[in-house]
Amino acid sequence: MSVERTREDFPALVARPGRTTPVYLDSACMSLVPTPVLEAMEEYYRDFPGCAGRSLHRFSEEVGRRYEAARAGFAGFLGRKDPSGVVFVRNATEAINLVGQGLSYRRGDRVLVTDREHNSNLIVWQRLAVERGIRLSTLALPDDGSFDGDALEEELARGVRLVSFFHTSNLDGHSLPIREITERAHDHGALVLFDGCQAAPHQRVDLDALGVDFYAVSAHKMLGPTGIGVLAAAPGALADLRPLLLGGETVEWSTLTHHELRPPPHRFEAGLQNYAGVIGAHAALRYLDRVGLEEIESRQRDLNARVTRGLAGQPRLQLLGPPDPRDRPSIFAFALDGIAPHDAAVFLDEGYDVMVRSGMHCVHSFYERRGLPGNVRASFYFYNDRRDAETLVRGVEELLERLPGSSVSGTSAASPASGRRRDSGRPHGAGSTRAAARSARPRRRAARGRAASAKGSG
Ligand SMILES: Cc1ncc(COP(=O)(O)O)c(C=O)c1O
Repeated sequence: MSVERTREDFPALVARPGRTTPVYLDSACMSLVPTPVLEAMEEYYRDFPGCAGRSLHRFSEEVGRRYEAARAGFAGFLGRKDPSGVVFVRNATEAINLVGQGLSYRRGDRVLVTDREHNSNLIVWQRLAVERGIRLSTLALPDDGSFDGDALEEELARGVRLVSFFHTSNLDGHSLPIREITERAHDHGALVLFDGCQAAPHQRVDLDALGVDFYAVSAHKMLGPTGIGVLAAAPGALADLRPLLLGGETVEWSTLTHHELRPPPHRFEAGLQNYAGVIGAHAALRYLDRVGLEEIESRQRDLNARVTRGLAGQPRLQLLGPPDPRDRPSIFAFALDGIAPHDAAVFLDEGYDVMVRSGMHCVHSFYERRGLPGNVRASFYFYNDRRDAETLVRGVEELLERLPGSSVSGTSAASPASGRRRDSGRPHGAGSTRAAARSARPRRRAARGRAASAKGSG
């Protein structure tokens, strides 16, 4: 399937009367959902709305078949030969918790994380340190995206039970050398868990070949619905995990006093499952396969290179992460001198229909240590096009021009932006300095911006 033709498959990107076409650059938070995924979910509720594995009628049989086909689909997509290592959960956070809370520990067992993990791969370990006596250690990563194998080696030599790292950073889009980390960890007898949220949607991951023990993903970052995540475990790795939840579907047999757990993965999938979600997530994988992950990667690289080039040499823009866009293909994250990240985000949305994320991206620890208020993150996916990249550049350029101290900052806030998208049709002026942007914004938007600022949103 040609990547150029995919936009029309995404209803959120199709122009409709009374609604502008967004420049959606927030796919690292949540990707858009294509029509085949919406249809697959609707098909479940319309044509075979049963519960898997409980009744013997045809609806139940069909949903059971589709559910297990989805499990095999995820195994294939992530490079696992054995589908029984695939557990459906609600999201990557739950997958990480399943491993964290499911392992048995001896007091003093060490878990190693990097110094820029999403809260989903940090808080659980902090809690386990308090409640189960593990020791949590942190590997500091260089800011330029490089990886220091010797520093990892030093940590491992001190004895580590589990290495739990992101695969691709949600802050700046750079990836860690997952093969090297896995090999080094295994050489020291440590298990590895990778948070694959920002990697699996964008690059081929071959988990069996890499030898990774546990890998966590969320379907809503890879064209799927919300509420579905996957833990993809190596053969045998689930055997020693204690389930987070117990109940229906997790047992072979029970009496009033005892029960016998089903083998993995079923013992980890308690209660009636989100069948529509799982079936939709499977349709998402099929769609990604049709587009091709190589195609997706190269499209993002091209867009990111355009934005990086377009905004190069702006003295008041600080890029986060490696300078070369090839080292962070899906993300362009930046801060602007003189304007708070949330205000910049609202400006881009209101003036240019550009949707980005601002704040601390659930990595408070990173900003707290640097005393920074967060930043702005534009994230790309294959349905973005060159016009999206150009619109982002124009929006940021105008914002920079209007900042106090810039040569053209006297421009009226209400004057129309030269670079505004033609189909925008919004009633208010495009850009302004922070104060003027507020006064130019409808009240509802201004209130939203303030609320987010106050929270220092993650
Ligand atoms: C790197 C990373 N890890 C974990 C998560 C948490 O994912 P979820 O909220 O789907 O569990 C995210 C979501 O933004 C993420 O980007």
